Amino acid sequence: MTKQELIRAAFAAREKAYAPYSRFKVGAALEAKDGRVFTGCNIESATYTPTCCAERTALVKAVSEGAREFSRIAIVGAAEGKVNTLVTSPCGVCRQFLYEFGGDGLEVILAKSEEDYLEMTLGELLPIGFGPANLE
Ligand code: THU
Repeated sequence: MTKQELIRAAFAAREKAYAPYSRFKVGAALEAKDGRVFTGCNIESATYTPTCCAERTALVKAVSEGAREFSRIAIVGAAEGKVNTLVTSPCGVCRQFLYEFGGDGLEVILAKSEEDYLEMTLGELLPIGFGPANLE
């Protein structure tokens, strides 16, 4: 899958976002090393705390389908009905959750559009992360 296709998949996932409280809709597309792509959207709750970010939705779907190694994730977000001027950067909890399976090397694509995006590694977003290796 090309980078543009991965970003497009994240935009399609964003359409499914359930965000009646924040009205901020996020989509993610997580590519496994075996080539499968798992998408996710944010899902909010009337009690707020259980809210699941798009990135964690995608990761939970992927791991529950047997994927554990990932190469890239594309993330898109904007307030409902708006075009964002900022990229949507994963929250701290999502960075940690992605680190569990992607480690430093996971490529993160923060996209405003298929042509306008930032690229970085998870190691840059979460330096000196604490992960499975620390518990060995
Ligand atoms: N959100 C995500 O799904 N991913 C991010 O990277 C940032 C924030 C969601 C959580 C909540 O539903 C809404 O965006 C506003 O914070």
